[in-house]
Amino acid sequence: MSHNEQDIKRQVRQFYDKVGWMEVADGVYQNARYEDLRPVSQEYIQRCHQRVARHLLPTGDLFLDAGSGPIQYPAYVEYSRGYRLRVCADISITALKAARARVGSHGAFVVADISRLPFAPKRFDAVVSLHTIHHLPAEQHLQAYGELHRVLAGGRKAVVVNGWSFSPLNNLFERFIAWRKGRKKADQPEAWETDKGTFVNKNQAAGLRTALGDKMKFDLLVWRSASTNVLRFFIRPEWLGRYWLRLLYRLEEIFPRFFGEKGLYPLVVISK
Ligand SMILES: C[S@@+](CC[C@H](N)C(=O)[O-])C[C@H]1O[C@@H](n2cnc3c(N)ncnc32)[C@H](O)[C@@H]1O
Repeated sequence: MSHNEQDIKRQVRQFYDKVGWMEVADGVYQNARYEDLRPVSQEYIQRCHQRVARHLLPTGDLFLDAGSGPIQYPAYVEYSRGYRLRVCADISITALKAARARVGSHGAFVVADISRLPFAPKRFDAVVSLHTIHHLPAEQHLQAYGELHRVLAGGRKAVVVNGWSFSPLNNLFERFIAWRKGRKKADQPEAWETDKGTFVNKNQAAGLRTALGDKMKFDLLVWRSASTNVLRFFIRPEWLGRYWLRLLYRLEEIFPRFFGEKGLYPLVVISK
């Protein structure tokens, strides 16, 4: 690992240890400011979370959560309910202590870097890695995908969620918001993203397809098409937001590959 790569990881770890996983309210972390937690969006957000579980076996022995954080949402806890043990791997010790407080003896907690997992090949019946690979230096993304694939048992699936660096669909709505807010540069990134706090490096759909290419079997589906910024702006109770989200969810279900590629957050389903 080069000095630069080490510096990036140190900075990311310090951010999560000292800022991201600080509780700002009971069970709510600073990191949750990047999520839309309003009641009007709750049903949609919950259904997007459930898309992860759909691809995993309901029961099994070992379940790996790579970059687990504190397992911050109740929906996340459900993914491993039918497994003997949930192995949480994270570079942040603060995250792992909080994860232990949440799932106790159902979990095992390992300080580890997802680009070099300290586990034997084919050890896990299910693997998830949510919003984590984007914290790695670009050169290590493929290595991390390779590690998730390596530790996955044959006939099983891994699910990875990370945002694209650019989404043509989401960007349309961002531009409208920027125009409404009277910004000079309409295509500048959304405010909460510029305020991301630590190192983030995202992929584009074509780049990821090429990189994973013949290295593993995978499918790009939709996790969620809209950013938190777009949801917060357009989805309002007084504008019947809940119903618009039901329509969006339905469309995503009918065209999962289209929204997975053109929307903001894909679900990368890796099969072995
Ligand atoms: C945005 S949080 C996501 C946490 C959780 N998966 C979720 O969706 O709520 C990213 C997590 O990845 C961890 N992380 C960042 N880089 C990592 C690395 N190289 N190896 C393992 N974990 C890492 C951070 O410490 C943090 O807990």
